[in-house]
Amino acid sequence: MSDKTYYITTPIYYPSDKLHIGHSYTTVAADAMARYKRLRGYDVKFVTGTDEHGQKIERVAKASGVTPKQYVDEIVAWIKELWTTMDISYDTFIRTTDDHHKETVQKIFKKLYDQGDIYKSSYEGWYCTPCETFYTERQLTDGKCPDCAREVEKVKEESYFFRLSKYQDKLIAHIEQNPDFIKPQTRQNEMVNNFLKPGLEDLCVSRTSFTWGVPVSFDEGHVVYVWIDALSNYITALGYLSEQDEDYTKYWPADVHLVGKEIVRFHTIIWPAMLMALDVPLPKQIFGHGWLIIDGGKMSKSKGNVVDPKILVEKYGVDAIRYFLLREVAFGQDGNFTNEALIQRINADLANDLGNLVSRTIGMIDKYFAGNLLSSRQDTEFDAEIRKMAAVCVEKVEQYTEKLLFSDALTEIWNLVRRTNKYVDETQPWVLVKDEENLPKLSNVMYHLAESIRIISILIQPFMPNTPKAIWEQLCVKDESITTWESAKSWGRLPQDLTIKKGEIIFPRIDIKKELEALEEAQKKTQEKSVAHQEKAKQVQEVSKEEKVEPYISIDDFAKTQLRVGEVLQCEKVEGSDKLLKSQIKIGEEIRQIVSGIAKHYTPEQMIGKKVIVVTNLKPVKLRGVLSEGMVLAASDEAGNLVLAAVDHDIESGAVVR
Ligand code: ME8
Ligand code: MG
Repeated sequence: MSDKTYYITTPIYYPSDKLHIGHSYTTVAADAMARYKRLRGYDVKFVTGTDEHGQKIERVAKASGVTPKQYVDEIVAWIKELWTTMDISYDTFIRTTDDHHKETVQKIFKKLYDQGDIYKSSYEGWYCTPCETFYTERQLTDGKCPDCAREVEKVKEESYFFRLSKYQDKLIAHIEQNPDFIKPQTRQNEMVNNFLKPGLEDLCVSRTSFTWGVPVSFDEGHVVYVWIDALSNYITALGYLSEQDEDYTKYWPADVHLVGKEIVRFHTIIWPAMLMALDVPLPKQIFGHGWLIIDGGKMSKSKGNVVDPKILVEKYGVDAIRYFLLREVAFGQDGNFTNEALIQRINADLANDLGNLVSRTIGMIDKYFAGNLLSSRQDTEFDAEIRKMAAVCVEKVEQYTEKLLFSDALTEIWNLVRRTNKYVDETQPWVLVKDEENLPKLSNVMYHLAESIRIISILIQPFMPNTPKAIWEQLCVKDESITTWESAKSWGRLPQDLTIKKGEIIFPRIDIKKELEALEEAQKKTQEKSVAHQEKAKQVQEVSKEEKVEPYISIDDFAKTQLRVGEVLQCEKVEGSDKLLKSQIKIGEEIRQIVSGIAKHYTPEQMIGKKVIVVTNLKPVKLRGVLSEGMVLAASDEAGNLVLAAVDHDIESGAVVR
């Protein structure tokens, strides 16, 4: 085993909805780095996972009529599938609902409380549920969340506080002494000038207004603030404070936490302060990358402009998508995502440049040497330059990749690809082949082409995990020692007598016009679904906002809710949903259509004829495009059971419940 270790993490994702291409961006970047380090002989730990607690998840689950755990289980399974699809080579997938994680979070909280870094007080301020973030009055922008510009909620609770203010000076000093701690530099300036220098306030680290979180072990009713819970994953994943802490000893401190720019603040202020309080060494680097922008704004589910990575991978293959994500945008900056840019890149860089280089080389060896090249060493005037360029390319790729500058690394590789294509034009094999005397030269040209391709195929491995294998198959490479990273540094490792096997085109050209239409059609469908989901979640949020203002309501408040007995006349599944049933319910003289999230618990047949209790004055909504005029009452528990509320004896439909 190697004594060089490398620990890299992605953020842990909220499983409140399916992930989009923006999330894949972070994960693909981390994966490229993990693969690169493995190729360089490091013992790598690559951790990703899901951030499953908090009010937001509690609410979307409620909106879907399932328990939070049921809700997240389904999405987490989908996320894991996505990472398999994207060839993400993570070593550990941590879920904040894992028992060992929750136990350690409780230990961390208790330790900080016992030593006085956490204290009890009361909190009054503003909370942005989508961002799971507290704000003071003065931090708001026009009374709205300064990050996402959505409505915030007034909260007043007895809470625990973390003495963040105590760590301000230590943090500033650490950042000043460690110029690589926050990257890129612009983010560092932003953190120091906008947050640290103006002064840190103590941080509210517990909530009592909901239950979906890690309970504070010594104070019932309090759950740990979701960011304290989530950030801890980076060490709980390694077994910190547990009996199995070998990974913690071996891999901590992290070499890099890769995060999007909007969460740099949590990772460079709250997280290091927590670690300082715990007397744990700080991660070596937090790298804040930019956003994938679509239509001028951050891709986001509430805007309905999400791009589903699974559709893209299905259409163009995982390597093409990974290449695009890493090449198109300088890592660190924001970048535009458009279908057009994607297809253009695939056509230009992959089909034309790389694909063409491979297929013409293999094609020529096949045609001129019947697939069996016995190369001589008779140089043309162009050969030395190609060899030198290949050597320099490896060095540059290493330098850029070490700094997470993936786009620059790929640009270097593609310079070599293009230079090698140009070499074909310079040496003109189709002219050489005409003269018997030039055959040694021709064979040497073919060998140079094949060698350059071998080196390129090694260098693209971190970014495109499948294409190298496809290339090696055509070059009939079986000797693994000539595909190691180190072997890219020496020219001439392919055997002089080279047999090739013509294979399929590695990147077919795409008909851009036809494809754009098909792609937009496919994407429209997923976006509609996602918007419907958001609307529902927003409604539930509004309802629970009202619920939360006061612990008691008056009889008049209660009277506002009209409850009546209804009889289910007809019932069927809502198309495209495995949770929703659509019922026609007779309430007195009236028949109403109501959609309920109960399909996992009742079949349509079981529903027909049932007398249920209906909220009749709810504002009508559309769920999955289906109108719902009211709500059927049901009881559900944490374990995932759900039963309909019913009347004790038979009574006329339309009877008032009060
Ligand atoms: O923030 N472009 O989770 P999350 C680029 N659970 N990156 C994007 C993006 C886009 N359009 N959209 C999202 C959370 N991301 C917390 C993290 S870590 C202890 C807890 C990135 O699911 C985003 O910047 O909202 C972030 O880094 C990551 O996806 C997870 O976002
Ligand atoms: Mg290490």
